[in-house]
Amino acid sequence: MIAATETKLPRLLMQLPGPKAKHVIEQDAKFMSPSFTRDYPLVAKRGHGAIVEDVDGNTFLDFAAGIAVCSTGHCHPRVVEAIQKQAAELIHMSGTDFYYESLPQLAEKLVNTVPGSDAKKAFFTNSGAEAIEGAMKLARYATKRDKFIAFYGCFHGRTMGALSLTASKSTQRKGFGALLAGVEHIPYPNAYRCAHDHTAETCGAEILETLERQIFKRLFDPEEVAAIVIEPIQGEGGYVTAPKFFLQELQRICRRHGILFILDEVQSGMGRTGKWWASEHAGVEPDILCSAKGIASGMPLGAFVARASIMNTWKPGSHGTTFGGNPVCIAAALATMDLIETQYKENARRMGDYLFSKMADWTKKFKIVGDVRGRGLMIGVEIVRDQRTKEEAPDLRNAIVDAAFHKGLLVLGAGANTVRLSPPLLIDEEQADFALQTLETCIREAEKKV
Ligand SMILES: Cc1ncc(COP(=O)(O)O)c(C=O)c1O
Repeated sequence: MIAATETKLPRLLMQLPGPKAKHVIEQDAKFMSPSFTRDYPLVAKRGHGAIVEDVDGNTFLDFAAGIAVCSTGHCHPRVVEAIQKQAAELIHMSGTDFYYESLPQLAEKLVNTVPGSDAKKAFFTNSGAEAIEGAMKLARYATKRDKFIAFYGCFHGRTMGALSLTASKSTQRKGFGALLAGVEHIPYPNAYRCAHDHTAETCGAEILETLERQIFKRLFDPEEVAAIVIEPIQGEGGYVTAPKFFLQELQRICRRHGILFILDEVQSGMGRTGKWWASEHAGVEPDILCSAKGIASGMPLGAFVARASIMNTWKPGSHGTTFGGNPVCIAAALATMDLIETQYKENARRMGDYLFSKMADWTKKFKIVGDVRGRGLMIGVEIVRDQRTKEEAPDLRNAIVDAAFHKGLLVLGAGANTVRLSPPLLIDEEQADFALQTLETCIREAEKKV
């Protein structure tokens, strides 16, 4: 008999949530922190490829991938094998105090994916936020400057340093008191909502002008700015893509003032956009690049890669981690990177093109779809009450996300009113068609509420 998760399409057996799911949700409410934001009652039991089975035996097509994490799908046999083999051999050692051969092995593989001819070095972490924290500390250490410029709408994590850069939703910052001093935010170029009626290619010129003419003249002398930190495609903020020229210009501004150019590719990286890094589409070369999420197919691993000339500035003891770069996570990452390189990067490009070609007419077809954007398998569908006024419609977006779940498709929201599609990079056309048909039905249902 084929296991339920080895099918390619979902199958719902009952009204959701089922009895076992209800029990888990009750237990969760009793014992878990209430700070999480669960959109719908999915209680996962097992996964295979792009299919997730819940505790009651219902299966779902996963276009969320554990928040853009399960890059090679759930439990890819090669990743599982690598984890099992490593777990039987050596689970932990701590790279802070000891050596093991897989650390430089993965570091070499990883630094070779980052654009730029300079030698580079890597530091492994446990999460995306920790990668950002490390990058911020390194930027301060290497430049001997303490200020940062970040962008409205960007999300960089929830630890105190990363949270100081994050400016996505005020609930993420509210109640936590003063954050890191010396962080200034500027607008992120959003062509759909461009105040100057620019195109997707030219939006953001005025923001760069503000940076040079206002921020650098009235607020922070550029000589005090350690780094500018940006997501080349906003993730949590709503899958908004920065224009190529904007990233290129930002890099030029950084170089001119000796400011480090830090790219947060925690969500947009690891092949999701059809290249290792979303920033490659713009031809830019970061001074520091942060990664996590898809890097190890779900094992907790993050990394920041910096030019060796920057990484070599800090001294032994200045930064470390007990678990970061754990051997089991590294084994998963080595298998993951191999799969992305040989198959899934190209599949993400091809399936992204396929999905975008099918969604090209959605703003005409649906009166509540304001914008369809992104790259590869990082796709955002912005839901508005009225295409003319572009009024955000979070209630309709939430209704679409919830309805999709009840039809067997897992998607997440991003930003105030965007549906985010971030499937595992291995999906095929049949699965893409199911996702498209399901979303179309859900959008039509939501439209009736307007
Ligand atoms: C772009 C980006 N940076 C950083 C983070 C933080 O990563 P983590 O949740 O692993 O700490 C996230 C998480 O969503 C992210 O999307």
